[in-house]
Amino acid sequence: MYKLYARRGIRDKVPLRIINEKKYEMTMITSDGANTTAKTTSAEHKEVRSARAIREDFPILSRTVHGKPLVYLDSTASSQKPHAVIESMSAYYQTINANVHRGVYELSEEATAAMEKARVKIAHFINARQSKQIIFTRNTSESINLVAYSWGGANIHAGDLILLTEMEHHSNLVPWQLLAQRTGARLAFVPVTDDGLLSLDMYEQLLQQQPKIVAFTHMSNVLGTINPVAQMVAQAHAANAVVLIDAAQSVPHMPVDVQALDADFLCFSAHKMLGPTGIGVLYGKRALLEEMPPFMGGGDMIHKVGLHSSTWNDLPWKFEAGTPAIAETIGFGVAVDYLQSLGMEQVARHEQEMTIYAMEQLQTIPEITIYGPEASKRGGVISFSLGDIHPHDLATILDQEMGVAIRAGHHCAQPLMERFGLPATARASFYVYTIKEDIDALVQGLQKAQQIFSF
Ligand SMILES: Cc1ncc(COP(=O)(O)O)c(C=O)c1O
Repeated sequence: MYKLYARRGIRDKVPLRIINEKKYEMTMITSDGANTTAKTTSAEHKEVRSARAIREDFPILSRTVHGKPLVYLDSTASSQKPHAVIESMSAYYQTINANVHRGVYELSEEATAAMEKARVKIAHFINARQSKQIIFTRNTSESINLVAYSWGGANIHAGDLILLTEMEHHSNLVPWQLLAQRTGARLAFVPVTDDGLLSLDMYEQLLQQQPKIVAFTHMSNVLGTINPVAQMVAQAHAANAVVLIDAAQSVPHMPVDVQALDADFLCFSAHKMLGPTGIGVLYGKRALLEEMPPFMGGGDMIHKVGLHSSTWNDLPWKFEAGTPAIAETIGFGVAVDYLQSLGMEQVARHEQEMTIYAMEQLQTIPEITIYGPEASKRGGVISFSLGDIHPHDLATILDQEMGVAIRAGHHCAQPLMERFGLPATARASFYVYTIKEDIDALVQGLQKAQQIFSF
């Protein structure tokens, strides 16, 4: 029996509405190894799984570095990946590898269904109203560039104000600089206080200048500061501004509900949330996305093409030119399943516990300076300096002596570093697999570095 695609359209077979709350075998994280076996829905109390047990799911955590067990404290840059994610991508290539959205044969249909299922899961994960509001990009950077180019090109004109903050990652600065250079728009920045918080008084004042768009990070990748985004969105909307939230550091680490936040645009990357590299998301309100012109042209994003002009595909494909990252999208969906099985409330709670422990332990080291707010106002990221030891030397010693991987440098936030008069800092960051022993190894390594430099 032939299927009538001409009438139904291949995509009609894929549910575009968000799936209902499904039954998960829920697990949660504790740092002390406690484990229970309750099966329940995500809305109820979930099983608690220890970070130690979770580590078993991450093959890379059993390797050694310079003869020492790997201690991975750089999840803010990119997280490690569980077996399930790695295997899902391998399974795609071994069993259903084919291009999507085009073929009328079984493999292509299965690949398309698997990819579109991931979109539905991700929509569900951030509580998007419809999965067509989930646009797949390569990463957060591309998502922000898409908005700056497409929405910005259509809506920003000479003299218009674009409001950002001093704590942005380069990904949420440079696309707006390019837009301002193209259009003659102006940029303004919400200052950061000495405690590493946004100056909300100045934010209020700057909003009175009627910015067309306000773009800010949910959580700083340098200071760990969690910004009061729901309140900031409400204030920006009261000033008639469109709001973009850079959620690269929040969606992986805490519950994020795009409808509750009332975000107009929200961007994040799979590789920071247990998923593969090369795949990210732009979430947008449907009315905005519908009005925006395409970002890139090519296959899949068109409805009809003539020699001189074309018409565009429906959302979300209007913004997805060319063959997508199919295996990566499937892996992303599995990463979301994994996080959901842990429970995002519990992920946040575990990281908070690790952050409090790390701040306490680090403060026992003489000459350490920790940047950013107190533990209750930050996520699992700690930037610090140790006396006058260069952060690159610290990172090298930690790696070679202890097998500890931390970040050193400007963390793609040069204006923020300048704000604090710093050329670079060292940065340790935590995730679902971090245990207190990792932090102990960091502290020991820093003490060793002090001994090496105390000649
Ligand atoms: C706050 C923030 N925004 C944006 C980005 C850019 O993410 P990506 O490199 O995945 O585009 C990062 C990456 O570290 C980040 O921390």
